[in-house]
Amino acid sequence: MTDAAIHARGLGKSFGATRVLNGVELTVPTGSLLALLGPNGSGKTTTVRILTTLLAADSGTATVGGHDVAREGVAVRRSIGLTAQQATVDDLLTGRENLELFAGLHHLGRREARRRAAELLERFDLGAAANRRVSTYSGGMRRRLDLAASMVAVPRILFLDEPTTGLDPRSRAELWSVIRELLASGTTILLTTQYLEEADRLADRIAVINNGRVVADDTPAALKRQVGAERLVLHLSRAEDVSRAGAVLVTGTGPHLDADAREVTLAMQGPDQLRHTLNLLDREGIAVERVELRSPTLDDVFFEFTAVAV
Ligand SMILES: Nc1ncnc2c1ncn2[C@@H]1O[C@H](COP(=O)(O)OP(=O)(O)O)[C@@H](O)[C@H]1O
Ligand SMILES: [Mg+2]
Repeated sequence: MTDAAIHARGLGKSFGATRVLNGVELTVPTGSLLALLGPNGSGKTTTVRILTTLLAADSGTATVGGHDVAREGVAVRRSIGLTAQQATVDDLLTGRENLELFAGLHHLGRREARRRAAELLERFDLGAAANRRVSTYSGGMRRRLDLAASMVAVPRILFLDEPTTGLDPRSRAELWSVIRELLASGTTILLTTQYLEEADRLADRIAVINNGRVVADDTPAALKRQVGAERLVLHLSRAEDVSRAGAVLVTGTGPHLDADAREVTLAMQGPDQLRHTLNLLDREGIAVERVELRSPTLDDVFFEFTAVAV
């Protein structure tokens, strides 16, 4: 037994010949938020689907709320809420009808269902559209309704799969405050996201997944420390020099190249590196317009851990 709300050991999954998960290990302590971060196709949704009993793993084990996802599906489903990446609301019903239906499924009485639906519609700024069919909603409105639906019954453990993708900044901020309230009330959350800023703001721990494997798992601050002290950013005069600079300045995991921004970013290894780097570029006739030193961000973490296939 474990007091972690979510615990996965060696999860493996293949679709046909494609190995999608390759031994995923995750632990989410009760009452905390773990952000699962990774590039498109890295296995985030597949992991969430296994943990929420929508999909069976080929190998490995997982418990959610102390229940085995493979053998105790009913008990697992009873303790979780899930917002899937694909909307689950019914197009033919109104926003209000959808939420009241969900409330009914969660055994709230009619009165309580009506009260909870109205409260969530207000909170997600859907009050004015509450009595319109969902088929008339914009993408952002659907997304908000979907979130509201997963919060009809305050779950002990909540899975949010890219909940803010496609939301405007205001709705995103609103969702962040809802997430913080849920955390404060003791809900455990596993959140997948492509937004590093979101993970940085909300997560107690961040797990980076790449090629179906967790390649880093730590607090946001520790992950930033792990990728080194400072970043050296070189703004080049010519965009066509960026890839050439990358070839000249090869290091263990970098540099990170951004041709559009004419930027080359390196982890600083020591005080001599600045002079050494500028000398190397000078010898190659690569003109540097501006030099900047900055603290590492989660973007650097992401690039460092997902740069090379492991
Ligand atoms: N039902 C499926 N059948 C075949 N391939 C799938 C299926 N579901 C996911 N995949 C593949 O598995 C990989 C991981 O997908 P997914 O878990 O959705 O990644 P993420 O959510 O990180 O973007 C992708 O290459 C995807 O195409
Ligand atoms: Mg996904």
